[in-house]
Amino acid sequence: MAGSEQVTSAGGDGRTRPRRAVRRERTRVGIVGAGPAGLALARMLALGGVDTVVIEIRERGVIEATQRAGVLEQHSVRLLEELGLAADVARDGRRHGGFGIRTGGATHRIDLEGLVGASVWLYPQNLVVAALAEVHSGSGGDVRWAVSDVEVDVKAPSVSFTEPDGTRVELSCDLLVGADGSQSLVRHSLPRGVGEGFFIEYPFAWFALLVMTPPSAPEILYTQSARGFTLLSQRDATLQRSYFQCDPAEDPRDWSDDRIWAEMQARAAGPDGFTVKEGPIVEKSVLPFRSYVHQPLRHGSVVLAGDAGHTVPPTGAKGLNLAFADVALLGPAILDWASGDTRGLDAYSDTALDHVWQVQSFSYRMTTLLHTRADATPFEVRRNAAELRGMLASRAGRQYLAEGFAGVASADRAERL
Ligand code: PHB
Repeated sequence: MAGSEQVTSAGGDGRTRPRRAVRRERTRVGIVGAGPAGLALARMLALGGVDTVVIEIRERGVIEATQRAGVLEQHSVRLLEELGLAADVARDGRRHGGFGIRTGGATHRIDLEGLVGASVWLYPQNLVVAALAEVHSGSGGDVRWAVSDVEVDVKAPSVSFTEPDGTRVELSCDLLVGADGSQSLVRHSLPRGVGEGFFIEYPFAWFALLVMTPPSAPEILYTQSARGFTLLSQRDATLQRSYFQCDPAEDPRDWSDDRIWAEMQARAAGPDGFTVKEGPIVEKSVLPFRSYVHQPLRHGSVVLAGDAGHTVPPTGAKGLNLAFADVALLGPAILDWASGDTRGLDAYSDTALDHVWQVQSFSYRMTTLLHTRADATPFEVRRNAAELRGMLASRAGRQYLAEGFAGVASADRAERL
């Protein structure tokens, strides 16, 4: 439990603002962000006997209902099992031994089991977060949902925030972890010139749909077409998640259901007669698309994990897996640090970033292979289609896609550590 003490203090300038009560608290590790990285880390530290407080600006119900990609690699599933969620994975996750890629109107299966002896699990991120929140809070973990006015002092380190009942809290800690997503306040609170950010923007976005219908294909299906990319993913027997490439400035309100289905069908059509199963669309949104890496991931007592340190485009569904790969390194490193051995924490940034860049590279390659730029010349459209056909026709090409998609390189790395 965090220690606490009731004090009174003035506002920032000490004069003009009314005095208000500030509750001072202490914990070993302060974690900003109750997404997958923050909650998995808190749970791992709790299992190792290290106190944390997790703070989150969103309400628990909002996070648990927010749709995000949900393809888990084996190493992510193993981490969840270690954290006590084996029953949740078995109940809510679905094992997939392959996935499909359509180009030229024909489907090619990437046989993950046959090519690299691995599977992935379709386990939507919102359900993963709900399960982590349940097991962590249920065993006494301290998570403060729906806090506001968060301020970070990276030197102290400490984080101040207002609880939903209006109480102002100043939480000091020995280590502060920014697991607060791609817009990370913790990262933005680092002094100017500390670290460096590397990024690229893409000239397209994803139009995301949640559709009440049975799945159109037995496995996840990515489609490349001259009209642009589409992806048919799945949730359960009656609800599916689909995406199609669009302009980043697109307004979902300009897209009627009829217009959406006409575009999806045109992109997926082919001589094999494949059609997308249509149904009521219950959610429409446009997702931004960028690749970003901040390095290093540690500055003194402040550490970044998950999207706060690196963001990948959603092609290949690597964001959640990268967050868990960070936790698989950072959790044990913090447990060692708590008992006086700082070697793991000292190595965290370099080790994690080596893997992050491998995954950035795979996500970038999947993105450029499968999407069609609006300004692509007819030559470029044909060259890109030929590159994808060539990869799919070659065992080495399919193996590259299978290794990257199943994350077997990350699993191997986790075994070596
Ligand atoms: C999803 O299920 O939402 C999903 C699947 C694969 C992706 C991205 C998103 O590459």
